[in-house]
Parts: sequence; C-alpha cells; structure tokens
Amino acid sequence: MVDDLRGFLDSLSRKGKLRTVNNADWDLEIGTINELMAERQGPGLLFDNIKGYPPGFRVATNLMHHKVGQKLAFGFPEEMSDLECVKDWKDRWKKHEPIPPVEIKDGPIKENILKGQDIDIFKFPTPKWHTHDGGRYIGTGVITITRDPEEGWVNFGTYRVMIQDKTTLAFYASPGKHATIMREKYWAMGKACPVAMCFGEDPLLFALSTIPLPWGISEYDMVGYIKGKGVEVIIDEETGLPIPATAEIVACGFSPPPEKDSRQEGPFGEWQGYYASGTRNEPVVHIKTLYHRNDPILFGQPPVKPPVNTWFPIPIHTATFLWNELDKAGMIDIKGVYVHGPGNRIIAVISLKQRYLGHAKQVATLAGAFLQGGACTGRYIITVDEDIDPSNLDEVLWAVCTRCDPENYIDIVPGFLTSPLDPMLNPDKRARKDYTTAKVFINACRPYHWKDQFPPVNVAGPELRKKVLTKWADLFKDFD
Ligand SMILES: Cc1cc2nc3c(=O)[nH]c(=O)nc-3n(C[C@H](O)[C@H](O)[C@H](O)COP(=O)(O)O)c2cc1C
Repeated sequence: MVDDLRGFLDSLSRKGKLRTVNNADWDLEIGTINELMAERQGPGLLFDNIKGYPPGFRVATNLMHHKVGQKLAFGFPEEMSDLECVKDWKDRWKKHEPIPPVEIKDGPIKENILKGQDIDIFKFPTPKWHTHDGGRYIGTGVITITRDPEEGWVNFGTYRVMIQDKTTLAFYASPGKHATIMREKYWAMGKACPVAMCFGEDPLLFALSTIPLPWGISEYDMVGYIKGKGVEVIIDEETGLPIPATAEIVACGFSPPPEKDSRQEGPFGEWQGYYASGTRNEPVVHIKTLYHRNDPILFGQPPVKPPVNTWFPIPIHTATFLWNELDKAGMIDIKGVYVHGPGNRIIAVISLKQRYLGHAKQVATLAGAFLQGGACTGRYIITVDEDIDPSNLDEVLWAVCTRCDPENYIDIVPGFLTSPLDPMLNPDKRARKDYTTAKVFINACRPYHWKDQFPPVNVAGPELRKKVLTKWADLFKDFD
C-alpha cells in the first residue's frame, strides 16, 4: 500500500485512471470540471498551472469517486465484489489490534514551515467548488486532528473547512462528531482547542477520517493496523499534535471558544445535493504554523449532486459498522448489510435468514438505533431475505414490490436524530434546532408465519444453471 498522496496518484496513473489538466481557473472551473468528470465516472484529475498560481501548486480531485480509486486506497483486489469488500472490512475490524503512530523528527511536510507574517492560506489554489458556495473551501478532502483534553487520545475526522482570511479557517463539525465533543471540552475549561488540519494526505488516512470509529479509538492506530506498521508522524511544537510526515499541506493552530471568535460559514453545495444548511456562525481556527511540501498538492473531495457518489461508492464507512453492531447485539444469520442513497447513508438494507417470528423486525429496529450507518441522516431501513443481494438495489426493490404489504409491513417512527444538513428540515424545525426525522422500517422479507407457503421464485435452480452454463459455455463466454 502507498504511504502518501503522490504514491497514490502514481498508482492511479499506472492504471490509466489519472489525467493532468493545465490552465484551469480555481474560480468555479476546477469544481465544474470535477463535477462533469465525476458524473461520467471518469478518471482522477490533477490540476496544474492553475490560473494565478505558480506551476507545481496543484489540486487533485475525483480520486475515489470510482471503485478503482476506492479499492486502491483501501487495498481491495479489483475483482472483489462490493458486498465482499464490506464483509472483508467488517471481519478485519473485529480482529483489530491498534498499531500507534511512530514519531519521527523529519519528513517531507517540513520542507516549508511558515509562521507569523509569512502565513497565507491563499498561497494554495483553493477552488470555489460550487456556484453558490459562500467562499473557498480548502477542506473537502481534509483530515482534522484533535486530542481529547481529558483522555489524551488523538482523533481525526473530515469536517469541511472554509477560508476566512490569510490566517483564519472556519470548520463545520456537526453535533456529536468527535471533534465537536473535544473542542467543547476545551472551551468549557476556558481554553482554545489545539487543531491540525491536513489538506492532502495518504488516501487511507482520509478514508479512516470519514469512518465513525467508536469514541476512544484513534484513527491513526487503525490505519497502522490496516497497514501493519505505524503511521510516521511529526509533532507540531505549538499544538503538540501529531501530523502525518508525508502530508502535503498542514495548518496547525487553535480554535477559541465561539463567544471569542466565530465566523459565517456556508452556504456550501452539500452531499445530499442542496445548499441546505445555509449560512451560520461556526468555530474558527487561527493558524499558528503552516507546513507544506515543495510543489504541494491540495486534495479535493467536494460533494457533487447525487446520484454521483463523492464519498465512496462502496459503503465501507457505513455498512461495515452497522453490520458489526448487529453482530455484537447477537443478531444471528445476517447475510449482508449495505447502505445506499446520498453519501451511502440514507437507505440501509439488511439481508437475513429469518429464524424466528419477529427476527426481521428486531434486526431493523436495532439498525435504526445505531448511529453509524443506520441512524444519523438515514431514513429507510429495509430487511430482505437471504436470497436478495443487499448491494443490488434492483433486487431490493423487487423484494419491496413483491414481499411487502404496506398495510402491515411498513412502520414509520418519528423522532430520530438527523443532521442540520437535512434538506427536509422545514424552516420552523430548523429555527428550533429540532434536527429530527422519522424513519421508515420496511419489512420486505416473506411473511414469517406463512413463508413456507409463499409462491416459489421463478428462476432455474443452481444445478440446472450450472449444467446449462457448462454445456453452453461458448454462448455465454462474452457475458461473464
Ligand atoms: C467527503 C466527506 C465530507 C464530510 N464532511 C463533513 C462535515 O463537513 N462535517 C461533519 O460533521 N461531518 C462530515 N463528514 C462525515 C464525517 O467525516 C464522519 O462522520 C467522521 O466519522 C467524523 O469523524 P469522527 O467520528 O471522529 O467525529 C464528511 C464525510 C465525508 C466522506
């Protein structure tokens, strides 16, 4: 596996999945090229010679919108199916043994260290990504590093970052996110929260940054576990935070309590396809040290209107955790878990072999309650029998259409946490900060008490298929 963004770009290039684009404008042109290419499932893009910026100051986008990029970043073989990738990660997490980062004294990120008057975040060609964005968002493929002031462990997460001025960044971390909890602890002590923001990094660091690990588990240790070696880090002197030694651009500083400083953040073209959360005052970070490599590459992963999936096409970040939680809760015979819809968060599908009356409903209810993958911003939880592949929405819809009587097998339960980014929050709820939504539980399994009398499925049996495929191999060879 590669150890930095440059190594990743080389690998993508060798697979024919990277194009260099010269002379684009940071002001809406890079963002729109990215959008058009993502819609076409096209290659990753490396923008150079950006208008108004010196050659070498680059922006890389569209790196993991496609499965080739995601599989490369996560280390999956190309031939693995989507559901197999989810299952593989779920099984790996179960056995995880954290490997902590390794502190080193020097690394490429120290090639340029700027302090005081020399700090200017506009040095990098940050795009204005979407037409109605309120500013230039440097943090879209960002990892934001914080340390819990009471427990001492280090978290990182991806929370969007908007430039305010040369030395000030506003960041939006939604309620309940680990950085939100940590910064509130510092503020309650009357202190500013130390923060490091990394704007170009090993894609595996970014991937883990978007996955909701349980409280207390450091993403650094998890990346170490997956790689089989500790991530090399350098300690930033002022904040004491570990920053990746091979990162491209890192801003370290302090986030004061919002009553001392907070700034207008948004609007931003969001992952659900709207500018839903508008403009609000959000916390800021005052940069004290700005690090960058020579010829730095800013990594951008801006949202694009669904169905383009700019998070990750295979829902490792949501489905694996939901599946693990169901296993931990003692749910037997779960055959597969997958999450669809914008951000792979909205529609959770669980396939199971029903073992007892109420089994499917129990599984669905639990799935609705788990924050990771099931609950936060999720709206639909669908249970299907074991013959349905939960990663295949056409199959899932077939089950919903033919095995679910809406009168008895759909429940609507109000009052679950959603997010301020939810476009369905009406103006009154938004004003009250009532970030809740109803969830829909759809039981599309054959009704348990008469499942044995349910009409048989109209498909040739496995033996017959195998026999016919063997005998007629020539006829089918171009279609497998
Ligand atoms: C591309 C991308 C952008 C994201 N942007 C935000 C964001 O702006 N704010 C936020 O709270 N979560 C955002 N998320 C979700 C968080 O990164 C995710 O929930 C992560 O687990 C947070 O880390 P934590 O669990 O350590 O808090 C984003 C995820 C992705 C994939």
